[in-house]
Amino acid sequence: SRVLVLNGPNLGRLGVREPDVYGALSFPDLVAAADGWGRELGLEVEVRQTDDESALVGWLHEAVDARYDVVLNPAAFTHYSYALRDAAAQVTKAGLRLVEVHISNPYARETFRHTSVIGPVATGTIAGFGFESYHLALRALT
Ligand code: DQA
Repeated sequence: SRVLVLNGPNLGRLGVREPDVYGALSFPDLVAAADGWGRELGLEVEVRQTDDESALVGWLHEAVDARYDVVLNPAAFTHYSYALRDAAAQVTKAGLRLVEVHISNPYARETFRHTSVIGPVATGTIAGFGFESYHLALRALT
């Protein structure tokens, strides 16, 4: 089955951006890893990234219409985007699964990261395991 792996703002800067928090590997490295995990798990994985909230909302609508499960790292939108939350809710209300993922553990960081407006409408959340968070999320969908 097909899974969209969607990534929000600044995740295209992995490897350059705060490597102490997010690690030394780049976004292309994440895409390569996710492709490999997809093959291993028998999932057709498509990885995308955007800094644009409206693009993310549109991709979630696409997931609903095409009936794709979703792995979503909403990045900073996690903490305040009700538009993304409403789009994510449509995915799970449609009977599809949406796994919220984070590379870091937001609960071990600044207070503003302790709130996720996505979590309550997600199927589940995996955070704090580096790129492995995505692997665990894909496994959860098998
Ligand atoms: C993040 C955590 C968010 O708080 C942050 O804004 C990000 C990345 C993570 O993967 O750890 O951009 O979603």
